[in-house]
Formats: sequence, structure tokens, C-alpha cells
Amino acid sequence: MKKFYITTPIYYINDIPHIGHAYTTVAADVLARHHRKKGDEVFFLTGTDEHGAKIEEAASKAGKTPKEFVDNLVPKFKEAWKKLNISYDEYIRTSDPEHEAIVSEIVAKLKDKGYVEKRSYEGLYCVGCERYYKTSELVDGLCPDHKIAPIKQSEENYFFLLSKFEDKLIEIIESGELQVGPDSRRNEVLGKLRQGLEDVSISREAVKWGISFPGDDTQTVYVWIDALLNYFSATKIFKKESFWPADVHLIGKDILWFHAIIWPAVLLALDIPIPKTVFANGYFTIDGHKMSKSLGNVIDPVKMVEKYGADATRYAVLRAFPFGEDGDISENKIAELYQKDLGNELGNLLQRTLSMINKYEVRIDRRDNYLILDEESFSTIEAETSIQYSEGLKEFKFDQVLSSVWRLVRANNSFIDEKKPWSLAKEENHVELTRVLNVCYWQLEKIADLLEIFMPETSDKMKKQLEEKKPEVLFPRIEE
Ligand code: ME8
Ligand code: MG
Repeated sequence: MKKFYITTPIYYINDIPHIGHAYTTVAADVLARHHRKKGDEVFFLTGTDEHGAKIEEAASKAGKTPKEFVDNLVPKFKEAWKKLNISYDEYIRTSDPEHEAIVSEIVAKLKDKGYVEKRSYEGLYCVGCERYYKTSELVDGLCPDHKIAPIKQSEENYFFLLSKFEDKLIEIIESGELQVGPDSRRNEVLGKLRQGLEDVSISREAVKWGISFPGDDTQTVYVWIDALLNYFSATKIFKKESFWPADVHLIGKDILWFHAIIWPAVLLALDIPIPKTVFANGYFTIDGHKMSKSLGNVIDPVKMVEKYGADATRYAVLRAFPFGEDGDISENKIAELYQKDLGNELGNLLQRTLSMINKYEVRIDRRDNYLILDEESFSTIEAETSIQYSEGLKEFKFDQVLSSVWRLVRANNSFIDEKKPWSLAKEENHVELTRVLNVCYWQLEKIADLLEIFMPETSDKMKKQLEEKKPEVLFPRIEE
């Protein structure tokens, strides 16, 4: 059996999950389900990033100890993923003592191998990002992500000698030993690498909530080193050693630098095999604005599931725009896709097909008799859908995969409109009536199968309705 190890970022546990977290997680879930369906042995990991200054601050604002604070929030993440039908195999928490022990051991090894040096450092730190910025990386003096001015900090820190890995990193990315995607991001990473690498601080003196730095109790391990190591420590904690190296780290573009540069360099330093693919999704804006608490436009994925269902939420985030690109989402957009694509197109196709099969007492024949359709355009669409489906998934083109399935849905609806089974019934042309409705029936079976990894509940409902020939509304109208 082929093994497939896929991860999501481990999200900062400073607040409940938002739609951006759900986005990457749903995409990873679709790939995990796809590989399971293909017969691969899958390890799908998600979790939370629980140490560092950001969490320390959030806990103190909430009047809790960091430990109490994170323990309270973990169930919120698990609940959100459950509601969205995320089929993760394990959930890692970086405050887990087993993870902490592995991080200590690995950092000690980095020291032993001579890749760590103590230096004094002064820089501009963004707590939101948990990283230092160079002045040249700021936009009008502000963090490009959080739009706030980073704080000047000076500390004596332990540094990882990242600069030693410049050439090697260029080589592994150029050769494809480490796939970085999409292409635009790969070029961005290579461009930055060619400008030269600076060593990075991997310890913090001011931060107490973290893993004690091996050999120096006055410092903690920098939260990003702690966090990146989750992908590896999880294979030990959950006894999945044979899954290493990871096949896909799915992330957002904001954390590409850490995953495509720092992470492989740490592994190279330790002589541990590097992951195969790092793929970065783009960033959502909400109705054209950056999603932020202060703007009050944060979309809660649990609320979306409660209102539109898990499948509509999964569909909308992946369908709204191409996966590697930036794009916009809003509740209106979700509502619109729910009503149009899911209700009027998919739901309606299933309902009217089954209703007519019942009403006209059409016998469902063997599938084989309808596999080769005489409508030429129809079979072309079906063939194209199959190709776009498997190619698209390989290239993380979820929106294209879904749009190719919808071409099939639409083609079936047009087919019904054109053939007018109700007229065929009136004319008592039972042969043609049977053929038309059998075609739709078996294509609906196919559509249900194609949608299984994207919309598991809907796919199950469709299969059940088709089997029992009992139509029920899939996506009922939502009263505002
Ligand atoms: O960065 N659009 O955690 P985080 C699309 N703990 N995706 C988004 C998004 C948006 N507006 N906002 C967030 C961290 N994401 C670290 C990761 S991994 C070893 C440590 C998604 O809570 C996207 O995947 O800030 C992004 O990379 C991730 O959430 C960042 O989540
Ligand atoms: Mg972030």
C-alpha cells in the first residue's frame, strides 16, 4: 500500500478558528479522502500551535494561565473540524509533553552538530506573526500581515546557522526534490534565496510560555521551531514513523518562508529526509477587506455549517476562487452558491430525475447499457470531467475540479430540458423516456461518487436516494 502523509498548519490557539483556518483544513481533508479512496494508507494530521508570546498575551488578556487558556480552546478547534467533517487521523498540540521532549532532543542535536551559536541581536518583532522583520520587508513601517508596527527587541539569543544552507536549498527546490507550489510561490522563494540568507534566532529570552532551551533555562525555544517540528514529532507520538517524510504540507502563503526555507534547512542539518511538497493557498479577503476582529468581519465556520451545512461550506470555500491565488469570500457568496449551484442545479437535478422515474414508472436498467452515450457532446464532457478531476487534484486545482463536475451537472439539466421527458411520456414514447432517465440516473451516480471527497454527506444522501428512488430535497431553501 502506498503511504500518504498530509498536514495542515497547526493554528495559533489565541482565538477560535475562523474561515481561513477552515479553508486550508478542508482542502487537506479533500486530499486525504481522495488518497484513502484510491486505496492509499493515509496519515492526516492537524493540530494547534500553543506556545509563545502571542498565546501568552491572549491568555493574560483573558485572565487565565496559558495552560488553562489553551486547554479551553482546543475543544473549539476539534468541534469546528467535526462539524466540517474533517477526517483527520490525529490532532497534535505543541503543549503535549511528548512533543516538548522531542523538540528539546532535536534542538540539542542541532547544537551538538554545530549549527547553533549564541549572539546578541536587535530587531523588529511582530508578535502577531511571531517573527522578526527586516525594515525592507515592512510596508510603510508596518507588518505586511497585521498592519501594526513591530516592536524593537534586543536579546542575547541562540541562532540557527541558516545561511549555511543557501546553496543546498536552491538545489533541492530547483531539482524538484522539494516541490514548492504554486509556481509563482516557488519563484518567490527562489528569488529570496538568491538574495542571500541570514541566520535566524531560535530562542527567546522574554518568553516564558515555551519549551526550555536545552542547556539554558533562561531561554525558551522559538515558537516557530517548536511548531515546525510538530510534523516530525507527530510521527513518533502517534507511532507513524513509517509515514515520514511528509508528502504534502498544505499551508497559507503567509507562512511559506518557514515551510520552504527554515523547515527543510533544519531537517538537512539533522540529516532527516525532507518533505516532498509544500503547497501554499492564497489569502481570503472578506467582501474585499482583510479579515480582522477589529473590522468585525471574521467569518465563523461553525456558524456557516449551522446555517448552510458542512457540505455547502466546504463547497463554497473551495469553489469561490483558485486555490493558490488570493480571492474573496463572504457570507453572501456562500448563500449564493448554496442556492444556485447546490439547490437549483445539483439538488434540482436529483429531485426531478427521481420524481420522473417514479411518476413515469421508469425501470432502471443496468449501468453498463448507459455507459456509452450516443449524445456525442455528453460523452465528451464526461471524459473531460474524469481527466480534469484526477489531474486537477494532483495540482491542487480544487475549483477547476468542482467546476468540471458542475459542467456535468449542468449538461444533465440541459439534457432533461431538451429531451422533455414529460412530453415523451405524453407521446407514450416509453423507449426514449426510459433511455433519457436512465442516462441521468447513472450520471447522478457518477456525480455522487465524484463529490464524495468534497461533500461526503451530500454524496451519501445522493447515493441513498438513488438506491431507494426516494427523492428528498438536498438543499432546502434557507429562510433569512
Ligand atoms: O501561522 N485566507 O497559525 P495561524 C486563507 N501557528 N487562509 C488563511 C487565512 C486567510 N485569510 N488566515 C489564515 C500560524 N489562513 C502558525 C502555523 S505551522 C507549523 C504553524 C490559514 O493561526 C492559512 O493556512 O496564523 C495560514 O497559513 C494559516 O491559516 C495560519 O494560521
Ligand atoms: Mg497568522
